[in-house]
Amino acid sequence: MEIIRTVEELRQWTRADRYETNTIGVVPTMGALHAGHASLIRAARNSCGCVVVSIFVNPTQFGPNEDYARYPRTFDADCEIAKAEGATLIFAPAVEEMYPPGAATFVEVEGLSSRLDGASRPGHFRGVATVVSKLLIATEADLAFFGQKDAAQVAVLRRMVADLRLPARIVVCPIVREADGLALSSRNAYLSASERTKALALSRAIRYAEGLVAAGERRAGSLIAAARQIFATEPAIRVDYVELVDWETLLPAETAAPGTLFAVAAWVGSTRLIDNTIIA
Ligand code: PAJ
Repeated sequence: MEIIRTVEELRQWTRADRYETNTIGVVPTMGALHAGHASLIRAARNSCGCVVVSIFVNPTQFGPNEDYARYPRTFDADCEIAKAEGATLIFAPAVEEMYPPGAATFVEVEGLSSRLDGASRPGHFRGVATVVSKLLIATEADLAFFGQKDAAQVAVLRRMVADLRLPARIVVCPIVREADGLALSSRNAYLSASERTKALALSRAIRYAEGLVAAGERRAGSLIAAARQIFATEPAIRVDYVELVDWETLLPAETAAPGTLFAVAAWVGSTRLIDNTIIA
């Protein structure tokens, strides 16, 4: 497994590997790798001859009062995980490599970027779309792997790839959870033991909504109200959103039709967590 720091080197490797292995897969991450990231790398390994794992804490997707400076950075452990899962290359650029001095070019997916997480994190999806487009252009990847955990991110990136006619196909992998239901997230590291317990309200709300749907409830209002009630039992939690939306447009849906996205975001102390389910 090679560790690469510059876009030029990355391009040399992936161009050479293309002749030998046919399919280039990329797994964009911000590091602090856990079993969720590992599942993406494994999926890439299963369908691509060359697997690029990028590790880059992308400054442009963090708001001024967010956790960029204290975001967990565990590079050596990340390399071990990526290697064990069969990554071919680690791409770990410096900030100036991804954003050369004077960088003035950004990718903005209009509309979608101001919905769900974009509503409470202005500029977040502009930063995500910008860095992911750079990664897709640099790797010339055939397949790009993302987690359903960040379902709004998937919607924004699908739109971007379609609009820019990028050659990559987006592959979405299921949410990996702890045994008690908590969705794995690098930000779970911020939780105290008591916050960790309270954070289970997110997966509980998701499971409860899934149960209602299975029992025949399809009205958005009822599902949202039921999930909000779960959160109301945890006063230490501040709900950001509870929404049922069309997964392509992220616009509100009236009915939980198959394929619609039921998503929640909430603050547990100073940590913002998200969870979701795709309606069956
Ligand atoms: P990061 O939060 O590191 O996540 C990298 C990828 O891992 C994303 O596609 C995310 O959805 C996926 N992931 C995270 N937790 C997961 C879980 N529990 N189960 C399955 N997949 C999970 O998302 C980002 O980084 C950044 O926004 C990025 C796309 C790298 C752009 O900077």
